[in-house]
Amino acid sequence: MKGIILAGGSGTRLHPITIPVSKQLLPVGDKPMIYYPLSVLMFAGIREVLVIARPADLPMFQTLLRDGAQWGLRITYAEQPQPRGIAEALLIGAGHIDGDECALILGDNIFHGNAFSQLLHRESRQLHGCTLFGYRVNDPQRYGIGVTDPEGRLVAIDEKPSHPRSNRAITGLYFYDSDAVDIAKNLRPSARGELEITDVNNVYLSRGLARLVDLGRGFAWLDTGTPEALLQAGQYVRTLEERQGVRIACLEEIALRMGFIDAEACHALGATMANSNYGRYVMSIARELAA
Ligand code: G1P
Repeated sequence: MKGIILAGGSGTRLHPITIPVSKQLLPVGDKPMIYYPLSVLMFAGIREVLVIARPADLPMFQTLLRDGAQWGLRITYAEQPQPRGIAEALLIGAGHIDGDECALILGDNIFHGNAFSQLLHRESRQLHGCTLFGYRVNDPQRYGIGVTDPEGRLVAIDEKPSHPRSNRAITGLYFYDSDAVDIAKNLRPSARGELEITDVNNVYLSRGLARLVDLGRGFAWLDTGTPEALLQAGQYVRTLEERQGVRIACLEEIALRMGFIDAEACHALGATMANSNYGRYVMSIARELAA
């Protein structure tokens, strides 16, 4: 399965912060936002990742993430010149997907929950069509919404409905079989001029091949779209990290735990950032897991 992170968009709700810099490079706690979606792909066992961003932002993502080899990954890059919709990522990424299955994740989506890695692993193994991840929210008008029948089966997906039929948001993580690129090729832009990911999902649904996995109430799916939400997400991360002494979305630790790199390589990565708490944490994890 290939991974795609869509880190495009102009982040207008965060202006002026996002005038010179991509939203997905802003800090959430002590690390850049894009670390969080990248950690999700790594937890799913994915090692080939395409990062899609605005042309002006790509060099900064490349400076940060490089070719991914330091984490045992292969990271490549592609431009999305205009924000033409999430589904355009499947067209831009067609060569990268290359007939394989893919996991598409939005660069501003933060997921955190117990046993998430096992859930991702299981779902990627049993993928048949598309798998979506639902999460109960207070403000369903802002999202794609999943409507289920009494047995919990997905029966409809509505994009930003003014009168939502449920509170179940479809989060920005999508697992697709190898048909997704062809489906995206046949889409027409919506009223807002975008290729809607909800339209891709509705094609799968009409074929009886869309599955909705509910992320339970003990799970966190955090928004980062406004200054308040960004601050809250950072506070959530810091609260858990300080209380437990473990880090969320520490890529070096995940690479080590997933067996993508060894403890020596992990320690060396931490040593390059030894002036920060993050770097010292990476070194301590490497020592702990080497013992
Ligand atoms: C997009 C999707 C929507 C989904 C949301 C998740 O919304 O269109 O279906 O629920 O991402 O973050 P947008 O970011 O375009 O407002």
